[in-house]
Amino acid sequence: MTTTHGASHGQGPFIAAIDQGTTSSRCIVFDRDGRIVAVDQKEHEQIFPKPGWVEHDALEIWRNVEQVVAGAVEKAGITAADVKAIGITNQRETTLLWDKNTGEPVHNAIVWQDTRTDALCKELGRNVGQDRFRRETGLPLASYFSGPKVRWLLDNVEGLRERAEAGDILFGTMDSWVIWNLTGGVNGGVHVTDVTNASRTMLMNLRTLAWDDRILSSMEIPAAVLPEIRSSAEVYGTAKGGALEGVPVASALGDQQAALFGQTCFDQGEAKSTYGTGTFMLMNTGGEPVQSYNGLLTTVGYRIGDQKPVYALEGSIAVTGSLVQWMRDQMGLIKSAAEIETLASSVEDNGGAYFVPAFSGLFAPYWRSDARGVIAGLTRYVTKAHIARAVLEATAWQTREITDAMTKDSGVELTALKVDGGMTSNNLLMQTLSDFLDAPVVRPMVAETTCLGAAYAAGLAVGFWPDTDALRANWRRAAEWTPRMDADTRDREYKNWLKAVERTMGWIDDES
Ligand SMILES: Nc1ncnc2c1ncn2[C@@H]1O[C@H](COP(=O)(O)OP(=O)(O)OP(=O)(O)O)[C@@H](O)[C@H]1O
Ligand SMILES: [Mg+2]
Repeated sequence: MTTTHGASHGQGPFIAAIDQGTTSSRCIVFDRDGRIVAVDQKEHEQIFPKPGWVEHDALEIWRNVEQVVAGAVEKAGITAADVKAIGITNQRETTLLWDKNTGEPVHNAIVWQDTRTDALCKELGRNVGQDRFRRETGLPLASYFSGPKVRWLLDNVEGLRERAEAGDILFGTMDSWVIWNLTGGVNGGVHVTDVTNASRTMLMNLRTLAWDDRILSSMEIPAAVLPEIRSSAEVYGTAKGGALEGVPVASALGDQQAALFGQTCFDQGEAKSTYGTGTFMLMNTGGEPVQSYNGLLTTVGYRIGDQKPVYALEGSIAVTGSLVQWMRDQMGLIKSAAEIETLASSVEDNGGAYFVPAFSGLFAPYWRSDARGVIAGLTRYVTKAHIARAVLEATAWQTREITDAMTKDSGVELTALKVDGGMTSNNLLMQTLSDFLDAPVVRPMVAETTCLGAAYAAGLAVGFWPDTDALRANWRRAAEWTPRMDADTRDREYKNWLKAVERTMGWIDDES
């Protein structure tokens, strides 16, 4: 897939962004106006060894990254000399340990959606509860985050703890893995992560931006495996080998923080919501971390060079686009993701059906790992078209729950929601979202804000763009949806949704 816009194509210089996502890896080449010059993308295998377990083959991912970088450079018709910097963005929390002498992963990567650490998280919260590390990390104890996944690997891979303590093993999220390989791997690769990715491990202190010794010892994770924590926009090293040989690697941001950056939410109170595999709404809260009392996460938004960090409140929804994929791949009810809109549009409403996709438990605002998916309200009347509608409504209602929590925590009333990501090409979904939120929904010209944000950060680090004002000037509205639903219908439907949510909880019994 190649996208070419405008006449500036080929004029250079350019920034390349690598997005190592949950379902695919892609590389996009951007010009100075933030326009897409070329895209290359490749999906990787989703490995489901048991119910609730999700893994990726990290070597497959690295091979794909090398291919899409070469592919994008070729499609753009440019060479490494035309590229001023490489930015990295990635699926967050997905956890990998590898041998620093051979470059071999010791196990498949454990993906963020994986629930195998449920029992471990309960154990870690014993006596104190889910908020044991919240003050330091901004996060509740949940299987979502990396720290418990590292601990699980150390406990379950034969002989690994000894090798880790001897200093032979490196831990990283996908940013670290990509940067280490890109900068030489076993031949001098740099072992770093950025503040946004580190803030999702549950091992970093949000204020000091350093690994927290007390948490490390509580989770029994040796400090020897940890990468160095760096800013989101600064030069970490240069690419060795491959299509971008010699180009500085100059940014890393978790995908959701990258989207916040790509949407140019640089002011306190600005927010965006990204609709991909899951959906993640982040609001810039400025220079101070804001504690949530309504089930949101406190996280690092970004840090440019040696400036002060910018924090964010986040509402995370585990399953949105992946529910559409599930309808396609596991149920076979549609042939392509886009077909969900056609099917859902063939009926007027949900026919009384509500689908709560708690496949990995419920994330924000509930954080219930004992929840599992439910389709509620079924009668003989319901067709696959109603289910398709319920699938789209699930994404919109889950967003509504997050915006309600955001309003309570921040005191900021939602005036409009900036959206991006693959699902925003679905018009019915965007209209439903506006209806359920009772607020306008706006989408920018470049819906690939994740890559764009990584490119922006890398470009700032090398002086390709002078400052964030220059980036803001690139933001252009492409589409807007405004509410059409009457308040009574909205309220009644919301009540039904909340009833369905209740029915997901307590499905998994306490494992002890
Ligand atoms: N027209 C559509 N209607 C509904 N969902 C869609 C549509 N097109 C794509 N999707 C969903 O959007 C998701 C892909 O969006 P996107 O490319 O932004 O995600 P992603 O960034 O690849 O995810 P990740 O980074 O997690 O790999 C898929 O889960 C797909 O099911
Ligand atoms: Mg993505």
